[in-house]
Parts: sequence; structure tokens; C-alpha cells
Amino acid sequence: MNKNKGLKEGVMKPEFNQEDFDVEFSLRPKNLCEYVGQKEIKENLKVYIKAAKNRGEALDHLLLYGPPGLGKTTLAMIVANELGVNIKITSGPAIEKTGDLAALLSSLNENDVLFIDEIHRLSRQVEEVLYPAMEDKALDIIIGKGPAARSIRLSLSNFTLIGATTRAGQLSAPLRDRFGVIFRLQMYDVKELKEIILRSAKLLNVECLETSAEKLSKRARKTPRIANRLLKRARDFAQVVGDGVINDYIVNLTLEKLNVDELGLEKLDIKILKTIVEDYEGGPVGIEAISSLIGEDVVTIEDVYEPYLMQLGFITRTPRGRCVTKKACEYLGLKNLGDNN
Ligand SMILES: Nc1ncnc2c1ncn2[C@@H]1O[C@H](COP(=O)(O)OP(=O)(O)OP(=O)(O)O)[C@@H](O)[C@H]1O
Ligand SMILES: [Mg+2]
Repeated sequence: MNKNKGLKEGVMKPEFNQEDFDVEFSLRPKNLCEYVGQKEIKENLKVYIKAAKNRGEALDHLLLYGPPGLGKTTLAMIVANELGVNIKITSGPAIEKTGDLAALLSSLNENDVLFIDEIHRLSRQVEEVLYPAMEDKALDIIIGKGPAARSIRLSLSNFTLIGATTRAGQLSAPLRDRFGVIFRLQMYDVKELKEIILRSAKLLNVECLETSAEKLSKRARKTPRIANRLLKRARDFAQVVGDGVINDYIVNLTLEKLNVDELGLEKLDIKILKTIVEDYEGGPVGIEAISSLIGEDVVTIEDVYEPYLMQLGFITRTPRGRCVTKKACEYLGLKNLGDNN
């Protein structure tokens, strides 16, 4: 058995991968009622959407942030759907030139949604085109070059910008300030993930027992994308090893083959924790040191692994670096060498 299977194939990584493509599309809820959890956000959104529709205006610009796989893109598409308008989808790194953004903005119809994923990765110049567009529905275009250059102002249709980011901290203050509504997506509890898994099983046409859905949801790192991926893997085992039904035996087998433990931790999580405990006496240690010791880049550790480890109360962030908690040491059966926690 390949010990690294789960890790190599990235089953437990909340980031989007190519394999998710088809399935995510079919499993994506299309309206707010189908969107599980995030109660507060949904309640507020319902009001804002209704009010904007009644007034016949565009919804305020909306920023969604939170770790990968929690449903930012899904929510953006739902908002456009509920508003009954078109959505144009792009991402920070895809908009290379100011002209690209200008073309996108001027192609929007009245009250449409422009969705910019990874909005923290917009270049400075592109961002500056966005400011007057967001504030005054205006596009400032420079015509000509050198001393003869002059700026003309074109007016745009009303539109809603929805930005999504995993790193709200990296957004420039002027950009952040131009969003009327900012939502931070929360991680999902077991009950919500179970609901998502049972819903997806139905859409995928596979029978999944309630207890088995619950078992899967406990390992899904509080993340819908991972829950759906685990379900798909369990479906494979159910078809090949079992009789097509996802039961507890199949779930246990799937998790064992994927090297996923009781809490949904995989090899790299354990490595991060052990490195801090064994090489740095439990911390505090800087993220760069952890990164070079375990051979994974800083952004991946911060965006992909840490949010869940922090949610579990296994890692804390202090001004001097990361610390592993007593709780984590107990779980892993490690002696906590530090007295930081
Ligand atoms: N609240 C939810 N209810 C049901 N399914 C959900 C929910 N949120 C997310 N999902 C499922 O999880 C998958 C991943 O969600 P989505 O692509 O929206 O995440 P994301 O936050 O945009 O991730 P990234 O940061 O990688 O772009 C979707 O295909 C969808 O099926
Ligand atoms: Mg997304």
C-alpha cells in the first residue's frame, strides 16, 4: 500500500484541483436554500438581495473571505442567480493588463455581477482602475502617449463586484474599504457536513448510510470540498470492493487507504506538529523555519494546513511564532517539551 496516497493525490487538501472540476459543477448548490450552513451570512444576504431587487439596484460590492473549499465561489454564483443577473467570472492573476479589466467592466449589463477570485492578487495598476469603477461607476481611460496623453472618463452600468480571497490581510486597505459588505466564511460543523455529504450522495446517485455520512463528515476538516472528495473516494470503494452502498465498513476502508486519521489529519499535519514539538520544544517557532524543515511552502502551510490545526486547538499563533498545544501532544502521544501552553 502506498503510504503517501492521500497526500500525493491531495485528497485532504482543501485547494481546488483538476479532478474537482466536473463534480464541483454538478454538486454546487444553485440557490441560498440549498447552500448548507453559514446561517448568519445567508440571513443577511437574503435581506440585501431582496432590498436591492425591490429598488431595482445593483447589490453592494461584496467581499468573501476564508480558507479554500468553504464555498466562496459557490456563494458568488448563488448571489447572481438569486439576483437574477448574469455573472462574469475571472481571477486576480488572470487580469494582466488594465485594458483587460476595462473590457470586462464595460461588457457588463445593468446590475450584473463581476466575480474576481483571488482578488488579493490583482496588480496595483489594475486595482487603480477598479477604484473609480466601484465608487463612481466610471472608467478612466488614458488616450495617447507622452505629453499629449489625456484622460477621459467613461461611465459604466451599475454592477456588483464580488471579490473572493483566502487572504483578506493581503488586500490593500483602499480596495477593502470599497466593499460595502464583507463576509468571513466559517468552517462547517459535523452536522452541516453530513447534510452536504447526503445531498451530494443523492446527486451522485449512490446510497450512503447516515452513520457512514457522519463518519466521513468527521474527517472532512470542516470543509465541504474535502467532504465531497471523501464521498467520491468512498463511492469508488463501494463500487469495486462492496456492493455499491457506502456503509461503515467501506468508509473505514477508504479512510485507511487514504491515510486519514480520526480527525482528518494526514501525514503532513502530523509532520508539522512533530517538527515543532521535537525540533523546537513545542515552539514558538517561525513559519519559515517550519517551512524549510518540512519542505512545504509558507503559503501552503498558512492557507491549507494551519486553519484546520488552529480550529482543532492544536496550534496557536503568537507574535514570536507558532506553538503546539498540550492538546495536540496528547492526541499524538508526544511528550510536550515546552511550557508555552
Ligand atoms: N455551503 C455549502 N453547501 C453545500 N455545498 C457546498 C457549500 N460550500 C461549498 N460546497 C461544495 O464545496 C465545493 C467547493 O466550494 P467552492 O468552490 O465554492 O469553494 P471556495 O471557497 O471557492 O474555494 P477556493 O478558495 O479554493 O476557491 C463546491 O463544489 C460545493 O459543491
Ligand atoms: Mg473558489
